[in-house]
Amino acid sequence: MTQDELKQAVARAAIAYVVDGAIIGVGTGSTANFFIDELGTIKDRIKGAVASSESTAARLQSHGIRVWDLNEVDSMPVYIDGADEIDASGAMIKGGGAALTREKIVASVATQFVCIADGSKLVDVLGKFPLPIEVIPMAVAVVSRKLAALGATPVMRMKDGKPLVTDNGCYIIDAANMRISDPVALEQTINNIVGVVTSGLFARKGADVCLLGMAGGVRTMTFPGQSSLL
Ligand code: A5P
Repeated sequence: MTQDELKQAVARAAIAYVVDGAIIGVGTGSTANFFIDELGTIKDRIKGAVASSESTAARLQSHGIRVWDLNEVDSMPVYIDGADEIDASGAMIKGGGAALTREKIVASVATQFVCIADGSKLVDVLGKFPLPIEVIPMAVAVVSRKLAALGATPVMRMKDGKPLVTDNGCYIIDAANMRISDPVALEQTINNIVGVVTSGLFARKGADVCLLGMAGGVRTMTFPGQSSLL
């Protein structure tokens, strides 16, 4: 199976977690896009969705799915999204698609985080994938120095020769060469750096369930410890 076929398989399996009549939180990225396309086929069963990025909102709307503003929604049963890496505790690195802040906000309103990913995303230790960190533009230099002091190699994310600008008007620093042995502590440390909007570590509140696409089929991992951290 190709990586896209694995992503499609988990996207299809995630439909089982969609609650009829509910508003669904929807992530960003190639795996989330496969999920949105699946959601389009059952759109009459849901009330709508909250999007974690402008691109996700546009794709949902292209399927005729109503997109709600998060401020109109008190709670959601489920948030479904991909990940760049996930470990055996359900902690994740996210933000390869630069949508980490809105992803974390929308996920915080959902009861359950269902991660959908191809099997290559499961790792023993997080950090091979450079950790995305959203930063207020004027703070890029100071935040980079502080990340370097933590042992990272900070790299400004660029697009077409200019700093990539997020949906929130901010920049992304990718912190490379981090071996993240304590994701919960590092998430807190980075989020406490003045000028950081948020880090792409989803560890204090990680996934509750992960559907992993493997050659032999979809493997379901559950992380019962996560819900108590809500
Ligand atoms: C978007 O900002 C990310 O958090 C994505 O969920 C993550 O990068 C996974 O993307 P893919 O599904 O494209 O691998």
